[in-house]
Amino acid sequence: MSNYHIKNLEEYFQVYRKSVQNPENFWGEIAEENFLWRKTWDKVLEYDLSKPEVSWFKGAKLNITENCIDRHLFSRGEKTAIIFEPNDPSEKAQHITYNELHERVCKFANVLKNQGVKKGDRVCIYLPMIPELAVSVLACARIGAIHSVVFAGFSASALATRINDCDCKIVISSDGSFRGSKSIDLKGIVDEALKSCDGVSSVLVAKRTNTEVQMKEGCDVWLQPLLDEASSNCPAEMMDAEDPLFILYTSGSTGKPKGMVHTTAGYMVYSAYTFKNVFQYREADVYWCTADIGWITGHSYIVYGPLANGATTVMFEGVPSYPNHGRFWEIVEKHKITQFYTAPTAIRALAKEKIDFVEKHDLSSLKVLGTVGEPINEEAWHWYNDAIGHQKCPIVDTWWQTETGGIMISPIPYATPAIPTFATLPLPGIQPALMDENGKELEGNQVSGRLCIKFPWPAMARTIWGNHERYRETYFSTFENSYFTGDGALRNSTGFYRITGRVDDVIIVSGHNLGTAPIEDAINEHPAVAESAIVGFPHEVKGNALYGYVILKESGESRNQDNLRKEINQMISDRIGPIAKLDKIQFTSGLPKTRSGKIMRRILRKIASKDIKDLGDTSTLLNPEVVQEIIDNAL
Ligand code: WTA
Repeated sequence: MSNYHIKNLEEYFQVYRKSVQNPENFWGEIAEENFLWRKTWDKVLEYDLSKPEVSWFKGAKLNITENCIDRHLFSRGEKTAIIFEPNDPSEKAQHITYNELHERVCKFANVLKNQGVKKGDRVCIYLPMIPELAVSVLACARIGAIHSVVFAGFSASALATRINDCDCKIVISSDGSFRGSKSIDLKGIVDEALKSCDGVSSVLVAKRTNTEVQMKEGCDVWLQPLLDEASSNCPAEMMDAEDPLFILYTSGSTGKPKGMVHTTAGYMVYSAYTFKNVFQYREADVYWCTADIGWITGHSYIVYGPLANGATTVMFEGVPSYPNHGRFWEIVEKHKITQFYTAPTAIRALAKEKIDFVEKHDLSSLKVLGTVGEPINEEAWHWYNDAIGHQKCPIVDTWWQTETGGIMISPIPYATPAIPTFATLPLPGIQPALMDENGKELEGNQVSGRLCIKFPWPAMARTIWGNHERYRETYFSTFENSYFTGDGALRNSTGFYRITGRVDDVIIVSGHNLGTAPIEDAINEHPAVAESAIVGFPHEVKGNALYGYVILKESGESRNQDNLRKEINQMISDRIGPIAKLDKIQFTSGLPKTRSGKIMRRILRKIASKDIKDLGDTSTLLNPEVVQEIIDNAL
């Protein structure tokens, strides 16, 4: 276990140095000592970032579910693997032991097999945060099927795009979902999506809300009777280290969503290693990450990372405001949570509520607090530290991405000194670099630039499903032999990193990545709209909110503007999901464009943020006069 668990700063530096000097030895040792392999690798790392091609642990054979479940059965069979906390606090929480999880995953895996699912097939999972979600993810991994989880807040059209992009044969869903006081007709959304998905042969439907749904003959099947009949014996499929484990879609600044492909061995080693260190996880801990498994945070730090460590991980079905704003803290007290991992947007929202909601609850079980998804502002950081951590719990501000598979830059509790708003130092094996606009690396400290990673790490995505060229172009063409993150960052005088935000056209709203292009496409589908541009502007709770500039066609000019605004937001909701709705919509006669026809978003961003003192150089614009009109009518 030499490298596996870092306990202080000196050890961190020592381990970090080793990881950079000899990455192959470093990761080879960690992999060998801490995981179950059916066959070990021929080579730890092979790579060429210009292509880019990266393989970790080439030649090894394994199954990630044997590492997440089977190997724990001897020593931890009766330990709780998953605590399911339902939306409604009066419904009993479920404690699923490792033995039970094993049985449920094997049965589910056999159901998939009986449905004709084979190694390499893609399975779409569109489920709320109920145990079936974790179980179905693991069941796919058990038989080598590639899971593609789609967050259950996405619309029918967004779901269909994702199902078709990777040709899923099977969809796993439920009758409905509970979110706070609402019940959502998930099956109806699936039905709508499937109108444009010819390749889907069956939909397995879990019961959650017991609402009435239409079951299409020859396609829709209730899941429970199949599970009841299935055998609980399902030997794990032997996977190659580089076999795909899952696809997860993330927004790009242009075009359709990118299906990031993560592979088996490297992802397993890295998610487990980072979980252990960043959360300082110990055997008796009860760890809770409030994310949804529909996002990468849930994949790596609700399911795979914790289970690979034999941890107890909490799945919460509901929302932080139901039945009141004390729900998170009530759950912390109820399950004696030791590590709590959430998003800055949730912290900001809860910090606005009465402190009674917090103070009513005993939070003394907490040891480590984490945040992820967007930069955390200083005020929110302090509230988290004071009100929740009572200044006794190290805060880990973890920077990473869907593409990186695991946490990249983060404090390690009790080792790295925490500085508010700083993600601090790279984890072992991670070699960040800051680049200037010309692609030159900025050496030394007190610099800011574009954040890149110069060397491969085990959990990096290997490609975009069906489009390797887009993968190369998006991430590896801006800076030579480096992965470009799309984020800007600064390195302070002591070498600590602070992430300053996206430098591309991705906007992070309440921790969700939204690309401008798909939203603009949705708006432009409205018959009255000629053209549109979306930018982000600062929002107290959401971090950023969306501001849309819309040019109407002649036919739209006589329409009532408030009605148009509602219709446009409805279009966005239908095409993408409610998370992408615009807070403000300004109608305008034109958009500032360069001579090559590119919209100058920089100017629109400044106007939306009410920061018009210095708009920068507008002389290169094709239509500088439109800027004043936009300023005059700004919302
Ligand atoms: C942003 C989420 C600042 C960043 C795991 C990144 C952060 C994007 C942080 C990825 C953080 C994530 N501080 N910004 N601690 N964590 N981000 O793919 O812009 O949903 O590129 O992965 O979120 O979002 P994604």
